[in-house]
Amino acid sequence: MTASGTFSWGFEFAEHFDIEALGAIVTKGVTPRPRAGNPQPRTAETPLGMLNSIGLQNVGIERVIEEFAPRWAAWRVPVIVNLAPDRVEDFGTMARMLDGVPGIAALELNISCPNVDTGGMEIGQDPEAAAAATRAAVRNTDLPVIVKLTPNVTDPVPVAKACEEAGAAAICAINTVLGVAIDIERRRPVIPRGRAGLSGPAIKPIALRFVWDVAQAVRIPVIGCGGIRTGEDAVEFLMAGASAVQVGTATFANPRAPLDVLEGLKRWMESHGVQDVREIIGAALPKGEA
Ligand code: SIN
Repeated sequence: MTASGTFSWGFEFAEHFDIEALGAIVTKGVTPRPRAGNPQPRTAETPLGMLNSIGLQNVGIERVIEEFAPRWAAWRVPVIVNLAPDRVEDFGTMARMLDGVPGIAALELNISCPNVDTGGMEIGQDPEAAAAATRAAVRNTDLPVIVKLTPNVTDPVPVAKACEEAGAAAICAINTVLGVAIDIERRRPVIPRGRAGLSGPAIKPIALRFVWDVAQAVRIPVIGCGGIRTGEDAVEFLMAGASAVQVGTATFANPRAPLDVLEGLKRWMESHGVQDVREIIGAALPKGEA
C-alpha cells in the first residue's frame, strides 16, 4: 500500500506507473472542511529521514466524494480514505458520508497526526478516545475501518486493544515520530511550529517495535508503516507480525518506491522458496504469537 500523505490522491502517480499492481492506495488525510495547512516551511530533511508539518492541508470531504471517488471507481486497485477530523464525533459523520460511495474500499482513521492543535495525536494517545473514534466510524459504515496509531506513546498496546474491541478491522503502525530541527543561523526551529513528524528509514526500528508489540496483542491484522524502502524491509515487517505494509517517505525520492518494494518482496520470496506471503507473517515472533 501507499502511506497516507505521500501519494496525494493517486492521480499524478497513475500517469507514471501501474498503480493497479499495488495492494491499495491510501489517500492524504481528509477533514470535514478544506484546510489550508500549516505555515511554510513544512518539511525539513534529516539524517535518514524527514520532518513534516503539513497541517492536514486537503480539499475537504465534499470534493473527495464529488470529484475524486468517481475517478477511483474506475481503478482496479482499492482506495482507502484516511480520515482526519479534529473531533471524535466527526469520525462517525464522515464515515456515514463515505459509506457506499463507489470508489472507496475502506477507511483509515488518522488519530495520530502530530501537527494539529486539536484532535490528531491527542486522540491516539488516549485508549478511550481512540475507541470512541473507532466506534463512531464503525457504527456508521460497512466499510472496513483501519486505525493508524501514533508512536508518540510509551506503550501502543492499550490503544490498539481498545480499537480492536471497538470494531477496528486492522491496525496501522505507525504514523510519524515527534521531532525538532533547529536553524542555527536564525536561532529558531526550522519548522515554524517547532515540533514536527519524523519519517523515513530513521524510524524503521521504532515502527518494527510497534508492529512487534501490537501483533502479539491483537487478533486483527497489523499494517506496518515506517521507513520501508526495499523488499527486504517489507520482509522484516512481515516477520515482525505485519500482514501488509505501507510505503511513504521513500516515494518522495523515488515515486515508484511502493511498486519497487512489492517487486523486491516477490524476488526475496522466490529466492527463499516462499510461495505465499502468509508463510512469513509473524515468523520472527516468539512461538505461538502472530
Ligand atoms: C500532516 O498533514 O501534518 C501530516 C499528517 C499526519 O501525520 O497524519
